[in-house]
Amino acid sequence: MLAALAPRAQGLPTKKGGAASDEIVAAAAKWGDAAIPLCSGDPDLPTPLHVSAAVIDALQRDESEKTIHYESGPGMLALREAISGHMASSYGLDYPPDDIAVTQGVQMGLTACFLALCSEGDEVLFAAPGYGYGSQASLAGATPVEVPVRADTDFIMTAEAVEAKITPRSKILCQCSPLNPSGAVTPPHVVEELAALAIKHDLLVISDEIYSDMIFDEHSHVSIASFPGMRERTVVLRGCSKSYAMTGWRIGYIAGPPGFAQIATAVGGHMALSVSAVSQYAAMAVFNGPQEVVAEYNAINAERRKYMKSRLHAMGFTTYGCVCAGVRGCVYIAAFVPCDANSRRSCCLALQRARGLHDAGARPLLAPNSDTKRTICQYRLGTNTRKPQQSFGVVFLGRHGLRTRPPARG
Ligand SMILES: Cc1ncc(COP(=O)(O)O)c(C=O)c1O
Repeated sequence: MLAALAPRAQGLPTKKGGAASDEIVAAAAKWGDAAIPLCSGDPDLPTPLHVSAAVIDALQRDESEKTIHYESGPGMLALREAISGHMASSYGLDYPPDDIAVTQGVQMGLTACFLALCSEGDEVLFAAPGYGYGSQASLAGATPVEVPVRADTDFIMTAEAVEAKITPRSKILCQCSPLNPSGAVTPPHVVEELAALAIKHDLLVISDEIYSDMIFDEHSHVSIASFPGMRERTVVLRGCSKSYAMTGWRIGYIAGPPGFAQIATAVGGHMALSVSAVSQYAAMAVFNGPQEVVAEYNAINAERRKYMKSRLHAMGFTTYGCVCAGVRGCVYIAAFVPCDANSRRSCCLALQRARGLHDAGARPLLAPNSDTKRTICQYRLGTNTRKPQQSFGVVFLGRHGLRTRPPARG
């Protein structure tokens, strides 16, 4: 059967194919407490207590209320109302519940969008290094087009860089800020320029705003959908995974121009008839409840960022954060490993703890950043909560191999 796979399924990372992150997790497991796999963007903070309490309450309700069953395709109306209110109060975005669809994480929302919007030959533009919109585009039959983002422009995807990649087949521009994995935050004036470009070239925009609550320091977020003429060509995606540390609940949502939520629901319905009712109760508590937890978790991540930056610096890395203005958002640190080799085979991943350095194999994860002739590495902010002073984990992947000095022992 595997020999007969459809082209769209070929080349997708699978467990059996040894995705780099699986290798890292396996390597980390061998060292138990001494290492923490930090390869996935999974904030290791607890689900807010009031959210868990709301779910328990929903589960304990009288069975005759039929609490936990299939839900409506676009999601519970009460949840979409809560999301609508939250979008208005927190981001100044005005979407009625009918223009909102609840999805199984932002990931499923993205898949539904790409399947709904892409045809063979359409080109999808996205920042590289960045999130995996390219494989989503390929899966939907479109052609991925990378827009290189560079260290000297703080990894921001500029309108100029996008325009250089536009062709008559360009159809979708993916905008993500803060960007995974660099933490780049697109300043409002650049978002405005991207909006103008989208209008000029008649592009649709997929605006992945999953990290927009996770911005450090004085930087801020503005949704591309908020600029004149953009709402009708933009789908906004957000969710609970990151800002509320609720990755396992699998709740995301999309908001788009009138009619699009229904289409995305119809497409998504073929993947999952409806989103878990249990998780929808959790999401309702999130969006109707207190929002202090977002700032609380951001403060923890900001401390981790500081710690990771100082450790990386001490290890001899020139971290983007140390040299430039700082990792501005997300839960990642993108660090450069100076490199001189051309060999992609020398891509390394390693697990680092305070008292030693362990090599753990070699496999590239991120697209090479040929413009900078450097290697980008990915980290997730984290600490070993059991032994916070003694160990921490770093996972790094390099195109050109590991170039670092082990930290001083003791
Ligand atoms: C940029 C970006 N978008 C979407 C997702 C998927 O998030 P979710 O857990 O909501 O499916 C991730 C996960 O890491 C991400 O980094």
